[in-house]
Amino acid sequence: MTTSAGTDAKVEDIALEVFIQTLRLRYGYDFSGYARASLKRRVIELAHALALPNIGALLPRLLYDPDILDKVVTHLSVPVSELFRDPEVFARLREQVLPVLASWPRVNIWQAGCACGEEVYSLAIMLAEVGLNPRAQIYATDFNDHALERAAEGIFDARHLAAYDDNYRRAGGSAKLADYYHARYELVRMRRELLERVVFAHHNLVTDGVFAEAHLIMCRNVLIYFSQPLKDRVLQLFADSLVRGGFLVLGSKETLRFSALADRFEIVSERERIYRLKPEAA
Ligand SMILES: C[S@@+](CC[C@H](N)C(=O)[O-])C[C@H]1O[C@@H](n2cnc3c(N)ncnc32)[C@H](O)[C@@H]1O
Repeated sequence: MTTSAGTDAKVEDIALEVFIQTLRLRYGYDFSGYARASLKRRVIELAHALALPNIGALLPRLLYDPDILDKVVTHLSVPVSELFRDPEVFARLREQVLPVLASWPRVNIWQAGCACGEEVYSLAIMLAEVGLNPRAQIYATDFNDHALERAAEGIFDARHLAAYDDNYRRAGGSAKLADYYHARYELVRMRRELLERVVFAHHNLVTDGVFAEAHLIMCRNVLIYFSQPLKDRVLQLFADSLVRGGFLVLGSKETLRFSALADRFEIVSERERIYRLKPEAA
């Protein structure tokens, strides 16, 4: 016997698939490779935010109101981050990866899924502190244009400063975090010179191709939203984008271990999710 709640859940699952197909056919945004449970939760939240009762009620809006696309992408993108998030990763980068990068004539860094830029400013600070900035170029990409605009502004909520300061110190910061921003009431604005070597660009990991000849790719807390086949596709994109011996950094809940690409990389630090493309695999 099917309960009415069970029936409703099944109908919502069907509506979700139609939503995904409509989004792809109408606007070219392809979410078909995203893990369903979290995607469904966010699409239901989107319906409720628009005062609609269910996913099915979103469909006519999606088809006939192009203005909704902006809201959909913004809502599905989850641009949550922090300065020096998971500071041990930055500490390990500083100790083990940057010295290798410093031995190369130039350093291209691709930060995929940069959200509102917290990771970009963290990296730029660290590169400046080790003297790598003049030779480095950071390409910071995301598919959420609003997040990219906010990243370029570099304005963050001052309420998080104590936590960010703690992260910075645990990441091995050699100055004071306050040296890198101007505080204005409840907001802080990151110093503009940190962006001298940064280019922000729209890039969709699902549909777009190789981005740059990268020496380091950071893509943290993005693959977590993807199904395993999509993770593998994106990891292939990263392998194709990296130079021989280039580094890949994933998020704390993401690993290469179960991926088809695992044997193309060597492990630099499994705990910090830092990997290196094997020279012969490039
Ligand atoms: C949780 S944030 C991670 C931010 C940062 N990397 C960090 O670890 O703190 C996830 C970001 O991935 C982006 N994203 C999700 N799917 C994407 C895709 N297909 N292409 C590009 N960016 C994507 C979202 O827009 C969001 O800004």
